[in-house]
Order: sequence, then C-alpha cells, then structure tokens
Amino acid sequence: PKPALAPTPPMGWNSWNKFGCNINEQIVRQQADAMAASGMKAAGYQYIVIDDCWQKSRDEEGRIQADPERFPSGIKALVDHVHSRGLKFGIYSDAGSLTCGGRPGSAGHEFQDALQYARWGVDYLKYDWCYTGTRNPEAAYTIMAKALRESGRDILLSICEWGTGQPDRWAPDVGHMWRTTGDIFDAWEGKKEWSIGMLNILDLQVERWRHSGPNRWNDPDMLEVGNGGMTNTEYISHFSLWAMLAAPLIAGNDLSTMSEATRQILTNADVIAVDQDPLGQQARRIWKEGDLEIWARPLQGGDQAVVLFNRGAQPASMSVKWAQLNLPGGLKADVKDLWSKAVQRGVAHSYAARVEPHGVVMVRLTPRP
Ligand code: DGJ
Repeated sequence: PKPALAPTPPMGWNSWNKFGCNINEQIVRQQADAMAASGMKAAGYQYIVIDDCWQKSRDEEGRIQADPERFPSGIKALVDHVHSRGLKFGIYSDAGSLTCGGRPGSAGHEFQDALQYARWGVDYLKYDWCYTGTRNPEAAYTIMAKALRESGRDILLSICEWGTGQPDRWAPDVGHMWRTTGDIFDAWEGKKEWSIGMLNILDLQVERWRHSGPNRWNDPDMLEVGNGGMTNTEYISHFSLWAMLAAPLIAGNDLSTMSEATRQILTNADVIAVDQDPLGQQARRIWKEGDLEIWARPLQGGDQAVVLFNRGAQPASMSVKWAQLNLPGGLKADVKDLWSKAVQRGVAHSYAARVEPHGVVMVRLTPRP
C-alpha cells in the first residue's frame, strides 16, 4: 500500500500558474525563502514544487538531466536549499513520452526516474498525462506509484490526469491526490483554450465529496490567489471554497512579491484549519437557488464549517437553518465569521448574514455543550 503521506490535504507552492515554462533555480529559491519568511510556512505550507520545463534531455544512460541554463547548480542543490528552509521539495514529470511542455516524459523510465528523485531528496511528484498515446491511466500511475515506493524514499504522488480516465475508481488507492478537471485559469468564470475559470471548476466538484478523505484528496487544481485576474473578494471566495473542498492548497502566485492582501488570504489560520480538519470530510453543496449557494462540511469534534456563497452581482441576505445542517433547531451554537473574526454566541435555529456580490461569508459553528 502507498505510504500515508497526506493525512490532511498537502499545502505548498507550485511554479506553473504564475511562471509556466519560465522557471529557473533563482525563482524557486526565492519562493522557498519567501515561504519561510512570509508566514506561509508557519501557516502550514510545506512543499515547493517545480512544474514542467525543468528538464532538458536524457544522458546516454537514460538519466534525466535538468536544463543547464535554467538550473545550472542542478536539482540536488536546489532540493538542499529548500530543505534548509525547513520545507519539502516537489518535482514534476509525465506518464507519456514527453511532458506537456515537450520535455522528456517518464514512460519506460519510471524506476530510473524514481531512483533519481530519491537520490536528489525529492519529497513529492506531480505526474502529468500528456503524450500518453493509448496508455491506460490506472496502469501507468500504478507503475510510477510502485517505482516511488521502491525508491527508498517517501515521495507523495500527485496524479494529474484531469479526470479523464475515471480516477475516482482507482486513484484513491494509487496516489495521495488526483486532479478532477482540466486546468484552472485566473478568472472568475469562463474558458480559455483547455483551461476553465474558478466557478467552472467549482461546479465540477459538487458530486465528488464521497471519494476523498485522509491520504486521498480530490484536487480541483492549484490556487490563483494573487495572480491578478480576480478581485480580492473573488480570491477570498476561491480560497474559502477550496478549503471547504478539502483541496490541496497549492499557492500559484509569486510569493516573493505578493501584496499584504494576498498574504492575508493565503495565511488565514481559521480557513486553513477547515481545509486541514483531521476528519477530512469534503463539503457538500447543501442548497442552491439561482446564484446563491450554501456549502457545509462537518469537522472533527462536532463543529461544522459553512459557506454562504453569492455568485451574483447584487448583495444578498442569506441564512442557513440548523435543520439544513442536521442539527436540532433549539441547539445553541457559537458562530465565528472566519474572515471578519466576529463571534456570535448562543445562536439558535439559524444564522443570517449579508453576502457581497461574488463573495462568501464563511463561518465555523461550535455547538454549546
Ligand atoms: C497540464 C497540467 O494540468 C498543468 O497543471 C501543468 O502541469 C501543465 N500540464 C504543464 O505543462
């Protein structure tokens, strides 16, 4: 069986959403330094993951080589730098002949590559699905999972197959997280080539709650918080909803230059505690009427997290009834707003709030004894 490396959803940073193929060792080092210095590490972020385009070619023995122009010091030195900041290192490859960016893939080189990652001290592999031809996804990811297990090092496996090959049926036993959709792009909603906006991704998660749990997480793709395509209110909604989904929280912005507003979103301890709740129960959408939705998830110890979500362009008055949460109406609960930090004590029957356009009110409900 796979090692239990993700009892709660993985948290970290990945190069793709902000930098795409334009990565190099200096950028990655800066992100590790910023993660440690900005409060991100203290908030629970752990992995620094380089995505596509770090590779160049294979040598005559078939060994994968980093791009010498972008990574002149080599991967080992970069891994050491990340480890020296008290963080973990993630790398990227692909189950096909080539990565999506046209670099060498791992098909036929799984065991060799896994051993190389282990020698470098890698802690996490994101494994993509371009140029796979007629390969069967379950078989392809199972081989890499076995190669990682036999590498002698604990390496988390992030399956990136976009939900095309029914990953619900096999990915929970093979990897620690699996993508459920194509790529996110930094917009409230819409489509751009093969990527889709935040709301489009969200709507594809509604039925997926039953598949996830400790060491087996649905991955609705990485965060766009701070990349500039959405408003602050929209980024707060994006982050809150991803926490409700028990999603891996993989920041995709430039941590070395982020604004204070972005930093505050990404490090909201109360929201992160919902994402990281040990029960690992992904939220369900328990009510929807037009643009208004209520999402709820039970937390360990009997608390519940609730998001009142207003997708519309007008402010809305919303409320959640205890009955909708399967709680007795007379029950008194303390309700904390996880963004404003305001607490209402001894609330019975229902909780009401005004929700901004494209905004959320996210609360944690603690029943009184
Ligand atoms: C497709 C994946 O879904 C993205 O997250 C990213 O890894 C790119 N490939 C890299 O080419």
